[in-house]
Amino acid sequence: MHIQTLLDKLWQQYCHDTPMVETIYKLFLAREKKIVNDHIALRTFNDPRVSISVLAKPFLDAGYIEGGEYHFEIKKLFAKHYEHENPAYPKVFISELLTEKFSIDLQDTVQNILNTISEEYLENPEKLLTRGVSWTPVRYKTYQALLAESEYAAWLYAFGFRANHFTVNVNQLTNMKTIEDVNEFLIQHKIPLNTSGGAIKGTPDELLEQSSTKAFPVKREFEEGFYSIPLAYYEFALRYPKPNGELYSGFVTASADKIFESTDNS
Ligand code: NI
Repeated sequence: MHIQTLLDKLWQQYCHDTPMVETIYKLFLAREKKIVNDHIALRTFNDPRVSISVLAKPFLDAGYIEGGEYHFEIKKLFAKHYEHENPAYPKVFISELLTEKFSIDLQDTVQNILNTISEEYLENPEKLLTRGVSWTPVRYKTYQALLAESEYAAWLYAFGFRANHFTVNVNQLTNMKTIEDVNEFLIQHKIPLNTSGGAIKGTPDELLEQSSTKAFPVKREFEEGFYSIPLAYYEFALRYPKPNGELYSGFVTASADKIFESTDNS
């Protein structure tokens, strides 16, 4: 699969399952000439069958290189970002849940679901990434048990492998120049912002400012019936130049910790 095909598929899945994202994208397109993605975010477990290094493979094969590494102590996550010299390709931020830091019950649930993924998918990360949930049954009771320990684990259980979010590159917009402009535009269109930790995460000193919408809830079918739970949000990033003049390409752990809360149920 060509890397552009993979990115397109992830985008189509993201828009299809979260129609509000497509609505916002179209609002942006009506105001701006083009929308370029700063990054996409992928989530996984640190099991060797599906870990960061597995999901990163199609990107590395397409010429992406490793960027930074990130530790999220509170959320018990490890992450890496990958970037491509062609600015048309978004950075790829992949995080993994450090499952050994959670209860035996959570670890068992993760093992059980991973055990049901067929070899065909485990050997083909492109397929895995675009398939969504690869396990059955998906029980609301299990979702809630995971949620009590880790919103991240519960989200992965309910929605599987997919892009958690896409992020608009604000530097590439022509009419909206700042994160404040973007937030104002969203507010005008009655799009709810994630205000956990403030509407703008990061500062010019940290060389990265981001904001995001609240996660949009979707009706997810579980064994027990349909439940409305948050799926995905849309994010916006403005990068500042480093002393050498190049735009900062990394991520800020403190801000990302807050943005992970966008999919919290609270
Ligand atoms: Ni992000």
